[in-house]
Parts: sequence; structure tokens; C-alpha cells
Amino acid sequence: MSAEIPEIPEPMRVPPTVEVHPALTPEQRDAIRGRFAVEHAGAQHAHTLHSAFDFFADQPFSLGGFVQRLVALASLEPAMGPDAPVGDRGGVHQRARLAVMAEWACQTWPGDLLETGTYGGETTEVLAQIARRYGRKVRTIDCWPAAPAAYELDTVVKPAAYARLAPYADVVEIREADVLTPESRAWIRERQYCLVLADTMKGHEHVRHELGSILPVAQGLVAVDDSYVSSLMRAVEERALESLGMAAASDPVAMGRFIHVHVSTLRETWLVRA
Ligand SMILES: C[S@@+](CC[C@H](N)C(=O)[O-])C[C@H]1O[C@@H](n2cnc3c(N)ncnc32)[C@H](O)[C@@H]1O
Repeated sequence: MSAEIPEIPEPMRVPPTVEVHPALTPEQRDAIRGRFAVEHAGAQHAHTLHSAFDFFADQPFSLGGFVQRLVALASLEPAMGPDAPVGDRGGVHQRARLAVMAEWACQTWPGDLLETGTYGGETTEVLAQIARRYGRKVRTIDCWPAAPAAYELDTVVKPAAYARLAPYADVVEIREADVLTPESRAWIRERQYCLVLADTMKGHEHVRHELGSILPVAQGLVAVDDSYVSSLMRAVEERALESLGMAAASDPVAMGRFIHVHVSTLRETWLVRA
């Protein structure tokens, strides 16, 4: 008996909305737009990842160009019904999307690639292939804690990551440590990065702290995974505002200026250096 394919309800078919600084009032957004001449780009949809990349290949960097790219890539994500697991929504093509963005980042900014939260190394491997092509490194950090045991992070996932990444020893540097320690912060700050994927814990203070390590050395794009976690989105937004001098930080760090761009149908949310 063949399984029935459920109908996707109409409301799920609405096109994605792009928001610059999603948590701000319209007045605050206008203030930022005026300051940095930020424009919402018209959404130009391409049909495949490849054509999406070709389409944008020779556009110089601009925030509008970034938004166009992101919307084109977002259009490739399948619509999902309300019963789909929240973590699946906007994440089906996430690795391919990161590859496209990483390639573009390598062409646009100096620096290596950084991933916090290696897990099994699947995304690291994708980034490593791009890094190798452009003579860059991928740095990835994970502590693979022993608990909770159900995830088997230390016994199964960690060895799998090392095995998967062994063929990329020339480009991948693995650090096995808690990302929040002062030593890890110093390690992150040793280099500059054209693209960062922040993907460890999702709590507000954790994300704030991690971005406090990353933003001073991020040259281009920072993707923060799991935007459906509201405390994470709040931390991203706060750091963006602090970087623009629009909010005071309780732990001031010198960083570049970052615009927060969120496409409603994507699982990750993005900071773009202005
Ligand atoms: C969602 S997974 C990362 C997935 C991976 N980036 C990918 O795309 O396949 C989160 C990882 O963060 C790691 N992690 C959680 N807290 C951490 C911390 N404080 N320091 C370093 N790694 C941590 C976990 O061990 C886990 O492997």
C-alpha cells in the first residue's frame, strides 16, 4: 500500500519575508537603513543552487546582493506543513546553502572559515571542500560532552567526526574544547574569518558570549543556526545593535558593524558585516 502524500496547507505556500533587524520597531529599522543605505532587494528567484550561484557570481558585494542571494536560496527550501518538526523547517538545503555562501565569502573577504559545533563533521566536510579550493582553512570546535548520554556525542559522534575529517587534515583544524572558555575565545580570535557558522548551544547568554568571541574577527558572513529559538534570536539581535552603537553592551567588545538579516523560511539567521 503506498503512503499518502499529505496536502500542504495553503498558508504554508506564502513566499518568505525578508526582515532586516527583525526585532526592531519600524522607526529603529528606518534609522539603521538611513545610516547604512540598506535596501531590501527585490526577490529574484533562481531555480537551482547552481544557477543561483551563477546568477549572482559577478555582482559586487552589497547588502542588497546578499539578501537577493539568500532569498533565492530560501526559495529552494520545500514548503512544510505545520506538523513538520520545527528543526526541519528551512534546513533541508542548509549545507548546500552554506556551501554557496562559503564560496562567495571566499571570493569576497579574506580569512578562514569557522564552525562552532562540529558534531559529526558533515557540515565541516562541505566547508573543507570549498576552503581547499580557495586556499583557506576550516577551523571547527566541539567539546562532545559525555552527557546527556543519549546523544552518544563522545562515544559515537566524535569518532565519526574525526574519521570523516581525516582526509581533510590539510585544511581542517579541529579543537576539542568548550567554546566558552577564555582559551577558546583566544583561539577563535587568533584568525580572521570570511564565513562563520555558530552552532553550539542556543541559550541567550551562551550565544551572546559566542558572538562576543566571533564578531571582532568576522570579516563577512555569520550564520547562527536554529533561529526558531527565541532566546538565540534575541542574542543575535542584541549583538547586532551593540555593533552598530545602537545599544550599550554589558560586556563591551570591539567588533565590526553587523546588520542582522532574517529570511522567515530559513532555519539559520544571518549577520552581515556592514
Ligand atoms: C547542532 S550540533 C552541530 C551540528 C553541526 N554544525 C552540523 O552542521 O552538522 C551542536 C554541537 O555543539 C556542541 N557543543 C555544545 N555545547 C558546546 C560548547 N559549550 N562548546 C563546544 N561545543 C559545544 C555539541 O557537542 C554538538 O556536537
